Amino acid sequence: MSLIAPHGGKLVDRIVTGDAAEKLRKEAANLKTLTLSPREAFDLEMIAIGAFSPLTGFMGEADFKRVCTEMRLANGTVWPIPVILSPADDVAMKINVGDRVALNDPSGRLLGILTVTEKYKHDKELEIPNVYKTSEDKHPGVKIVREQGNWNIAGPIDVITPTHEPEFSDYRLPPARTREAFAAKGWSTVAAFQTRNPIHRSHEYLTKCALEMTDGLLIHPLVGETKSDDIPAQTRMQCYQTLLNNYYNKDRTMLSVMPLAMRYAGPREALLHTLIRKNYGVTHFIVGRDHAGVGNYYGTYDAQKIFDQFDQPKDIGVTILKFEHTAWCKKCEAVVSSKTCPHGPEDKVAPSGTKVREMLKAGQRPPQEFSRPEVADILIKWAQSV
Ligand code: ADX
Repeated sequence: MSLIAPHGGKLVDRIVTGDAAEKLRKEAANLKTLTLSPREAFDLEMIAIGAFSPLTGFMGEADFKRVCTEMRLANGTVWPIPVILSPADDVAMKINVGDRVALNDPSGRLLGILTVTEKYKHDKELEIPNVYKTSEDKHPGVKIVREQGNWNIAGPIDVITPTHEPEFSDYRLPPARTREAFAAKGWSTVAAFQTRNPIHRSHEYLTKCALEMTDGLLIHPLVGETKSDDIPAQTRMQCYQTLLNNYYNKDRTMLSVMPLAMRYAGPREALLHTLIRKNYGVTHFIVGRDHAGVGNYYGTYDAQKIFDQFDQPKDIGVTILKFEHTAWCKKCEAVVSSKTCPHGPEDKVAPSGTKVREMLKAGQRPPQEFSRPEVADILIKWAQSV
């Protein structure tokens, strides 16, 4: 059975193990060190495991510029968001082209080594409006870019297998492993569901509609850095596990996590999420309303429309499953969308996020047409503990 080809043709693997890793550890002890931000540490992992294939390191200037302006790498491969290393300016000043630099995580643990091939000005005025479609500092993605340094350090990376257990290690499968799992299950088509929220009834509907069309379903929550008012990944994982145990066909559904940091870049991020999932071996990707959006920065379906700019089979290769806004309709007695239901908004069970938070905090389950009771109970526990 042949699985979908990775983005750019070849699955990248920048993980070094065994004696070679020991050698790198010894070398690192004598190198300049650079402490990665949480986002950069997640990006490092994404590169190393091949989830960011064809990237083999942090981007150089030609890639950075073309990604910002044309959503392509310098060689023409589609890529919508820069993957860059932008340390504080005083740190960047001490790093030169040709250096080997030890990369540490924010807690000081050695993660790997970067071979510096370029150092160039971080053109935030090019990046921010192009990628985020706004320059407002209130936007959580824009805010992070503004806080980054003014120089980018580029080059290939080598990552040493961590000496500590990463979070959700049982579920943290790299692309090579999800591909093996799909092949073992005999799934030639797989739909992936990206999420940074608990799965409520409307999300469940999207995933099950998708599974009607494919051999398998990959529930693939993002567990990298999110904004502080998003529900923590630990709590969400409990919700996903409970939901899978109670409401999904386990022969057809797989839960695994993706260590990507959210950018909240709406349409461009939907494209990035898709290309990443191709690397994981996915053939179909769900894009619903306001995918990866925040506030009112993007139109409800902008994240679906962005795919129209490309030659989809050639440039993207994944089938996009587009869903309209869905919710429970009291008259239809089902989850519906404006595409399938003739009734109005007054018939829908769609409490606001604020209302749901209030209910959870007060120990009340939101309506079961909105959220399964098992999920509500986990969220009540979390809401009352913060
Ligand atoms: S996201 O940042 O990961 O996009 P979220 O976890 O809320 O946020 O959404 C996951 C996916 O479900 C996205 O594709 C999003 O568009 C879709 N989605 C979420 N809620 C709805 C809904 N009520 N109707 C249709 N699509 C939805």
